[in-house]
Amino acid sequence: MKRLFIALCCACSAGFLPAQTPVYLDDSQPIEARVKDALSRMTLEEKVKLCHAQSKFSSAGVPRLGIPEVWMSDGPHGVRAEINWNDWGYSNWTNDSITAFPALTCLAATWNPEMSAKYGKALGEEARYREKDVILGPGVNIYRTPLNGRNFEYMGEDPYLAATLCVPYIQEVQKNGVAVSVKHYALNNQELWRGHIDVECSDRALYEIYLPAFKAAVQQGGAWTIMGAYNKFRGQHACHNELLLQKILKQDWKFDGVVVTDWGGAHDTYEAAVNGLDIEMGSYTNGLTSESAFTYEDYYLAQSYYNMLRSGKVPMSTIDDKAARILRLIFRTAMNRNKPYGSIVTEEHYAAAREIGNEGIVLLKNALVQKKQSPLLPIVADKYRRILVVGDNATRFLNQGGGSSELKVKDMVSPLEGLRAVYGDKIQYAKGYAAGRPMYGNVEQIPQAVTDSLRAEAVAMAQEADLVILVGGLNKNHLQDCEAGDREDYGLPFGQDELIEALQAVNKNLVLVLLSGNAVEMPWVSKVPAIVQGWYLGSMGGHSLADVLSGKVNPSGKLPFSFPAKLTDNGAHSFDALAYPGDSIKEVYKEDILVGYRWHDTKKVPALFSFGHGLSYTTFSYGKPTASSKTISADGSLTITVPVKNTGTTFGKEVVQLYVGDDKCSVLRPTKELKHFQKIALQPGEEQTVTFTIAPDDLKFYNETLGDWTSEPGKFKAYVGASSSDIRGVVAFELK
Ligand code: BGC
Repeated sequence: MKRLFIALCCACSAGFLPAQTPVYLDDSQPIEARVKDALSRMTLEEKVKLCHAQSKFSSAGVPRLGIPEVWMSDGPHGVRAEINWNDWGYSNWTNDSITAFPALTCLAATWNPEMSAKYGKALGEEARYREKDVILGPGVNIYRTPLNGRNFEYMGEDPYLAATLCVPYIQEVQKNGVAVSVKHYALNNQELWRGHIDVECSDRALYEIYLPAFKAAVQQGGAWTIMGAYNKFRGQHACHNELLLQKILKQDWKFDGVVVTDWGGAHDTYEAAVNGLDIEMGSYTNGLTSESAFTYEDYYLAQSYYNMLRSGKVPMSTIDDKAARILRLIFRTAMNRNKPYGSIVTEEHYAAAREIGNEGIVLLKNALVQKKQSPLLPIVADKYRRILVVGDNATRFLNQGGGSSELKVKDMVSPLEGLRAVYGDKIQYAKGYAAGRPMYGNVEQIPQAVTDSLRAEAVAMAQEADLVILVGGLNKNHLQDCEAGDREDYGLPFGQDELIEALQAVNKNLVLVLLSGNAVEMPWVSKVPAIVQGWYLGSMGGHSLADVLSGKVNPSGKLPFSFPAKLTDNGAHSFDALAYPGDSIKEVYKEDILVGYRWHDTKKVPALFSFGHGLSYTTFSYGKPTASSKTISADGSLTITVPVKNTGTTFGKEVVQLYVGDDKCSVLRPTKELKHFQKIALQPGEEQTVTFTIAPDDLKFYNETLGDWTSEPGKFKAYVGASSSDIRGVVAFELK
């Protein structure tokens, strides 16, 4: 079909079509005129066909009018390998190996919108080359609990950070004529029971915490599609939820794009028809649960929708609205003749992946090592004869597993390869622990004897080494960082706690690199001098990591979520099971607006590593912050300036963070909330003054009585810091 359309377009641009080209084919016409024209030529059957899948990853066009199909692909860290037309098997093509980009947690940890733009540009070019019209990402669900199996696909616990970081990604992807699908809208904050759990949260939590990133994606990013979530919200499935889709997304935010279900997220024809769902994908309908037994005509938005339209049970306006949105999407993507050709696995894409990894890696700890009185990192090659690398994650293909974000890569540089490229023959390797094959939906049990012998081998080698680098963490196996299940423990899996204890007992020069998309419990934290959070770094991950460990790149990532010391220090885990994981039917977000650092701060439960934390190989001193005025009026603004200086001997980047807190309010407010940040680059000795503008909107909360954002006059504080718990200066001001 796509080919036919291209032929039609070429003929058209070469002047072979009749003089009166139909408006819908004429891309010099405004999109809305083209939509209207195409709609006027379509039958009801043709309109309904647009609204549901015709294969696992495509929906139909209008062949009679030369309007092409819509082709979609996961998302969000690269373009997924081709999937069979009618089942979940891979098609085994030989031309679909792509670049794996760092996971979105890593992108969030860069705190750098420029990295987000690079990410979106490169990913959009790859999606375009692979002839995709929609890439299923980014994911912006808020990090509520460290057990959520899909946190690695999201952008952390803070709505402002996630909102700021998703926008350039979206804009740059879409410049390629490829739509994003921002997922999973909304409140899909765990994988356990994701298909049916009924989430209840306050309006404040909804508007202040869980929706802002989606809103920014729509209003600032201009996202062309949104993917509904699997779960229910207030009794109704998110994919046809009246409040989320009709009222908030389409009416209040004026979203003019397409709502796509998550795969199998639709459950009811009437609700889907009237509550704003546009395209239904991946369904198993009405008890027909095997791939071969159902046809696409059995979808909720297929024959039964057609029948309801014909019998007047749902208004025709619903199908005209859906079809118009889908046509708009097609004109923006598949029928966009100005889109570039795209490219895959280019040097530029690899450079982008490496740089995003470089900027997202977080140096959690770099303590002085006894006697030597210097930190272990960066690792200077001359200092060591023998460097032992330990860990399954040092060699594992972390592009595999995890669920729908799994990628088929052309190249994948492992940490071991990256370190060998820098330290050559000095590097030795011991596996140290076994984690089983990368699997989705199953867990391979490792015999204790294997675990014990791998540990014993690594410990023996560590005794002889000058330095040990353990590359561990989680992986993409089921019940780790993986779709369709949550983690069952906060601690590290596969016997890594014992391994860490044993290694540090024989070698004090221990560097721990954690690859994961989640926080983990660290009972050994005081005994390990250097700890690095390395996320999932994609194709160039080994190089990104080696760049940072060797000091070629000075780390500048900051945590996009808190690492609680123990699980019950996290807000969602401070209540009974109804707050997490729910009673299998319902779940109540009892921590309300106090998610992440908002909980740690307000309840005075310090995190082990705080939101916004990340060290550098240099040091930064912050001067006293000053405000342009002591007061701010409801229609004015206030600037806060703070000088920041690189006081060390290395070039480095620092993320200067501005939080705002309301001293007194009639409703509970978090001690402070992130409102602005800026990543600056400073040469040794260089100083820069950072300026933040506080607007009245920055002081507001969602007023549940009014159903709107308001603020109360009174005293506020602006906190300037290097993390949410490392505040370097406070300025008081008053809202008049
Ligand atoms: C996931 C989505 C994904 C879709 C298609 C679903 O199971 O939740 O994120 O885009 O499958 O693979």
